[in-house]
Amino acid sequence: MKDSIVAALKEADGPVSGELLAGRLGVSRAALWKHMEGLRAAGYVIDGSPKVGYRLMSEPDLILASALSSLLPGEFKEKVVRVDEADSTNTLAKELASSGRLGPVGLVVAESQTGGRGRFGRRWHSPHGGIWFSLVIRPRLSVREAGVVPLLASVVTAEAVAEATGLDVRIKWPNDLLIEGKKVAGILTELAAELGEIDYLVVGVGLNANVSFDELGDSDLAATTLMDETGRAVDRPRLIAKIVNRFLSDLAGLPKDVDKMLRRWRARSATLGRTVTVTAAGEAFTGEAIDLDSEGGLIVVDKAGTRRVFRAGEVTLGERV
Ligand code: BTN
Repeated sequence: MKDSIVAALKEADGPVSGELLAGRLGVSRAALWKHMEGLRAAGYVIDGSPKVGYRLMSEPDLILASALSSLLPGEFKEKVVRVDEADSTNTLAKELASSGRLGPVGLVVAESQTGGRGRFGRRWHSPHGGIWFSLVIRPRLSVREAGVVPLLASVVTAEAVAEATGLDVRIKWPNDLLIEGKKVAGILTELAAELGEIDYLVVGVGLNANVSFDELGDSDLAATTLMDETGRAVDRPRLIAKIVNRFLSDLAGLPKDVDKMLRRWRARSATLGRTVTVTAAGEAFTGEAIDLDSEGGLIVVDKAGTRRVFRAGEVTLGERV
């Protein structure tokens, strides 16, 4: 109901009469008044009364499922799950996808996470104001072909953030987003497969958007936020929709357009042409990050000329070569 009232008020140019609104939503005027009080308590500034009519003056920085799904393709109708608080949107998305309640696509968005998960089992701080979402997809790709999906997610997220903020957003292999060397976003992709075939993928995006560094908790990584970098808030539903829409349309071009996608990744790279240390399976290897291979693997050559291609691992950036 809250969503429908806000949507109706936003659609209107001026004040909307209580009678009209109550009729349209199929509730009594007394019930409507109660809902208005509830919205005001939640931070919406609504002028007026049942007699004069209601007018929405400002809204809190909240992501509404209805606002978000109106910006997404029709297949997301009823497939956007928005919660105030999740343990982890990736965990919730997997539960919903496994039980058949979300699919073939779905989007789980939380205002905050209590158990946000990062790569390598790390904790991901997810206070109110950030962008924390998980996209469920069932792509027609082999498990091997799907290896580039996290890179695609990083490219579209970096491009969307750059467009929305004007910031120079770079990518540390495979999919960390950096602004002037500080991490602003991370991506955690999880795959459910059966007999070697993809059942579904969950692409979890965590973007420090309308929060300040101080709110991120005991993050030991060099991190930053969009708010700290620009001094203003982004329109979170619009930014989420931009990322998801671009991701889906580029995903449809895979595996055919993989080279095009990798070119876009290279254009935003903070990794290539630098000395890097890649830690994979408990082992560290230092050398120059030369390029990506055709499947998105990172090619590193050390001083002795030993060449290795990494499919997974963590990169620490050194100086430019
Ligand atoms: C990383 O860089 O380590 C990946 C961080 C991914 C965080 C996002 S927030 C939304 C989704 N839910 C999670 O629990 N994790 C991902």
